[in-house]
Amino acid sequence: MTDLSAIHAFLLCETPDSWIESALQHPEMLLVDHANCEKKAAGTALNLMFRYVDNFELLNKMSRLAREELRHFEQVIAIMERRGISYPHVGASRYAAELRKLVRSSEPARLVDTLICGAIIEARSCERFAKLAPHLDEELQKFYNSLLKSEARHFSDYLTLAENAAGTDIRDRVQVLLEKERELVLSEDAEFRFHSGPVSQV
Ligand SMILES: [Fe+2]
Ligand SMILES: [Fe+2]
Repeated sequence: MTDLSAIHAFLLCETPDSWIESALQHPEMLLVDHANCEKKAAGTALNLMFRYVDNFELLNKMSRLAREELRHFEQVIAIMERRGISYPHVGASRYAAELRKLVRSSEPARLVDTLICGAIIEARSCERFAKLAPHLDEELQKFYNSLLKSEARHFSDYLTLAENAAGTDIRDRVQVLLEKERELVLSEDAEFRFHSGPVSQV
């Protein structure tokens, strides 16, 4: 079992049980949006590689991360294909966009905040996979548990890169972004997504 204690200590709240219930009510959307999340995670890493070409630590870590996220993407769509689940275009949840609204615009703050957002998103994904896994069928349970190790590493890689990019203590900034994240995770969303809050009952 992967040790998630650092991730649980980092995040300010657990995924609410009501989100788990929503996920079980939307098994197809769970996989569709999960595929999107893996694709976007790879895209974010590639964007950073184009924007910060002079940072070899970042280039190495992001290159490996992008490859792993694309591998996860392939694994999700293989399961979707086997289960006859189609892959429609669906909009993203507000989660990542709302978090990124807090990213400052001047450098190096922009890089530091983007990397902290990366750490938070990876940590939440990892926490969610672990909490959801025991409720899923055997194949998905095995798959989600197999993702924990790499997602936990992505979390710590992003956090280390953020600390190195800042060159100073980033705890205050991490706290600001984590508080926003807690609000997004605990407040209701209209539609179910992998990173949504609990879905409002209408
Ligand atoms: Fe992933
Ligand atoms: Fe990841």
